Amino acid sequence: MKVKKLFIHTIGCQMNVYDSEKIVERLRPLGYVADTRIESADLAIINTCSIREKAEQKAFSFLGRLAKMKRGRPELIVGVCGCVAQQEGRRMIERMPHIDFVLGTMAIDRLPAAVRKIEAHACRIVDTDLSHQIQEIPSISATATSQEVSRFVTIMRGCDNFCTYCVVPHVRGREFSRDPEAIINEIKSLVISGTREVTLLGQNVNSYGQKQHLCDFATLLHQISQIDGLLRIRFTTSHPKDLSDDLIAAFGSLEKLCSHIHLPVQSGSNEVLTKMKRRYTRERYLERVAMLRDACPGISLTSDIIVGFPGETRKDFKQTRDLVEQVEFDSLFAFIYSDRPHTVSRHFSNKVAEKEKNHRLQEILALQSHITQKIHARLQGTVQEVLVEGYSKKQMDRNQGPHARGTQWMGRTSGNKIVNFVPGSASVLDKDIALGKMAHVEIEKSFPHSLWGHVVRIGSGRSRAKGNKCYAA
Ligand code: 5AD
Ligand code: SF4
Repeated sequence: MKVKKLFIHTIGCQMNVYDSEKIVERLRPLGYVADTRIESADLAIINTCSIREKAEQKAFSFLGRLAKMKRGRPELIVGVCGCVAQQEGRRMIERMPHIDFVLGTMAIDRLPAAVRKIEAHACRIVDTDLSHQIQEIPSISATATSQEVSRFVTIMRGCDNFCTYCVVPHVRGREFSRDPEAIINEIKSLVISGTREVTLLGQNVNSYGQKQHLCDFATLLHQISQIDGLLRIRFTTSHPKDLSDDLIAAFGSLEKLCSHIHLPVQSGSNEVLTKMKRRYTRERYLERVAMLRDACPGISLTSDIIVGFPGETRKDFKQTRDLVEQVEFDSLFAFIYSDRPHTVSRHFSNKVAEKEKNHRLQEILALQSHITQKIHARLQGTVQEVLVEGYSKKQMDRNQGPHARGTQWMGRTSGNKIVNFVPGSASVLDKDIALGKMAHVEIEKSFPHSLWGHVVRIGSGRSRAKGNKCYAA
């Protein structure tokens, strides 16, 4: 079979990264091999995100580049997948003659058939059917992809919450949880291929299994933690309204569960939270945070914030600032509110002026940067348990192989902080460090987005007392 080159450009969240992996796998039987050079691609796919206006603009500007390319090479097949594809559907193909197919968020399994059809008949295809979501979410076969220490595993799709600003329920459909057995089998096969850490993915993993009366999320975590050879479990994203006491307790009792939770708060003002339809109050959020810190001292907390929601006053914004100061998040993703298609909030009055939204964004980012630096600085001189995931960015840029002299490695702490490190100590040699191993790294320097240190010992510190597990970064 002729080898054909597939270029895939992914925009957006981890769910899209996972879907792109699946796209590569589904197209392999047709002779497509993933390639990073767009100039020589036979098939170029853009996997899109529409969560904010900016992400959507990125997709359209990339499509503009592809239009130029196709003029020079008409045989290039161009496809659009993901949330913008779902949202725009037929409109895209009508407006842009260089696009050969538009496949929505539930159509990845039908992608090979669509590509075959286009190769044979040079036709154009639109498929935005969401009704197939009731089927099992197909898993990735572990053998098909290269060994990776840390992998994503989708445990559920869609969302039923309909926060008033959010496009996700409209482009990803209703919430649907995978069968626990299928999830566990997928993780077991990933572990056989070398995976040591999994990040469980879903729009709101805290409500896992409820709708279909499967087990709840805390029970799923207990089951996953029994898998031999798996060292770490992470998950994202959580919704404060569904963060159960059992899940909070799991942070204290499950050795393999990393001491980090991403818990989007969105706003610190109860008026704004009500208009967002978040269904929790500022007080309830702070109470959950206190419980998490009680169950797991030192737990790393990260969050999402939207600034400039319609009707957000300076007073509302100040309450958000106060909450950020009070909680002291480890890091924060802050976004300027943008109107999205189909959402309720796009019809709200009292929109905040662009200039003011920008101003609020800069204010919150400056505040957070100060907090993050303070937290990182506190870690200097401590020893952190790090899972060795790969080579540092600097090492990759040098383009040297593994174990070149002075190799710089990269891994993350339990609290999800990136650590770049070298062997550093006479008793630890380059050859002792390997992907998938745990390393104890003494932190020498802290930076805004990472830490730097040297290895003092290889191997996991499983001998620690259980209650101490959360004192990691
Ligand atoms: N405008 C700005 N930010 C948004 N988000 C979701 N929808 C919007 C919107 N319309 C942010 C939320 C969410 C994150 C993934 O994106 O903070 O948690
Ligand atoms: Fe969007 Fe709210 Fe669902 Fe998160 S919980 S995906 S913000 S609707």
